[in-house]
Amino acid sequence: AGIITLDRGFKNTGSCESAITFLDGEKGILRYRGYAIEDLAEKADFLEVAYLLIFGELPTKEQLDKFYSDIQDESEVDEEMKKILDGFPKSAHPMGVLSSLTSALIAFNPSSVDVSSEADMYKAIVKILGKFPVLAAWTLRKKKSDPLNYGDDSLGYVENLHKMMFEKPGKKYSVDKAVINALDKLLILHADHEQNCSTSTVRMVGSSHAGLFASISAGISALWGPLHGGANQAVIEMLEKIKEDGGDTKKFMAKAKDKEDPFRLMGFGHRVYKNFDPRAKIIKKSADEVLGQLGIDDPVLDIAKGLEKEALEDDYFVKRKLYPNVDFYSGIIYRALGIPVEMFTVMFALGRLPGWIAQWREMRLMKEPIGRPRQIYIGEGHREFKNVDNR
Ligand code: CMC
Repeated sequence: AGIITLDRGFKNTGSCESAITFLDGEKGILRYRGYAIEDLAEKADFLEVAYLLIFGELPTKEQLDKFYSDIQDESEVDEEMKKILDGFPKSAHPMGVLSSLTSALIAFNPSSVDVSSEADMYKAIVKILGKFPVLAAWTLRKKKSDPLNYGDDSLGYVENLHKMMFEKPGKKYSVDKAVINALDKLLILHADHEQNCSTSTVRMVGSSHAGLFASISAGISALWGPLHGGANQAVIEMLEKIKEDGGDTKKFMAKAKDKEDPFRLMGFGHRVYKNFDPRAKIIKKSADEVLGQLGIDDPVLDIAKGLEKEALEDDYFVKRKLYPNVDFYSGIIYRALGIPVEMFTVMFALGRLPGWIAQWREMRLMKEPIGRPRQIYIGEGHREFKNVDNR
């Protein structure tokens, strides 16, 4: 049996060895496979980063072309899936719909579960990379009552995603390059973050040898929560509330510091970063650029900047080393790109997909044992059973 140590929330427990993402929370460093996040966000595109995360090296042109063509070959979704989507009420949250659809995909692709060889694994990986953007776009189209569509093979991965989301029936699709660049950058910044809640979930579910799609579906559910990916939606809702309330940021700062009040400053704080989240720095700059390029003046950007300034100078936040995280400014960009608030966390999931895949693949290749934490039992000792009449 041995001694069991209690570590609530796994604050000090390494669950695996991994060669994918390096994170130094004290210094604010994030690298994928050794490459600085700043370089990747500036110079790479999302599909290259996906390849890098999953297979460990930046692809050559040939490798990238083959990868994308394999993904495109798998981008069709079974027609029956449309009926499942149809069954959801329009008010359904897109994250719930996406998690259900991802799980439903298994029924139409049963061979994706058995991944005893690397070739099988590769097939499952390109399938999910091909079908997931279609499902994500469809959840949005359903909300907007737009007819379901498919992508265009001549477009890149991210532009194709954008087209599937925003193409209007009867209109020729076109998009500002600045929009695709911004989207590419956001997806790259979200692509992996080592053993966070959703990634640990993907690994945990996958460790029972449930398939990749079941693992990803569970990861989507984990990401949904407002303490994790759902924070991007919560941030915009908070900023809007502050705006509607007259813009008094000090009042909301006081609420966030009040221990009796459950309100937290959404988009602030992080389990690992005790310094600037390097992703937040890039996103803040990008928010300024994108809004400028698109000629959008969003008053909540000023509220966000005001809140950040106050928090960085406030004893409560300084003492606890609470800095803006990746979700603080991302929603402002998503909104500028025309993405509805309820879809923000879906965008995060689209970005995180390669990370989940890479971690799942690494876990399977390293033949990790089934995940099975222990506990410290604090319940009753042995008790005599009484029949219902004698209780
Ligand atoms: N506003 C006010 N106080 C906070 C905040 C906040 N956003 N975050 C942490 N604190 C306080 C917390 O009350 C605690 O104070 P004390 O030591 O007096 O009890 C201290 O700071 C440490 O916080 P914790 O909750 O013990 O830290 P954690 O590592 O368990 O939680 C967190 C990390 C990200 C869940 C938390 O900071 C939080 O709830 N932030 C707001 C939600 C958010 O932005 N989440 C996105 C995280 S980044 C992207 C992602 O994971 O998807």
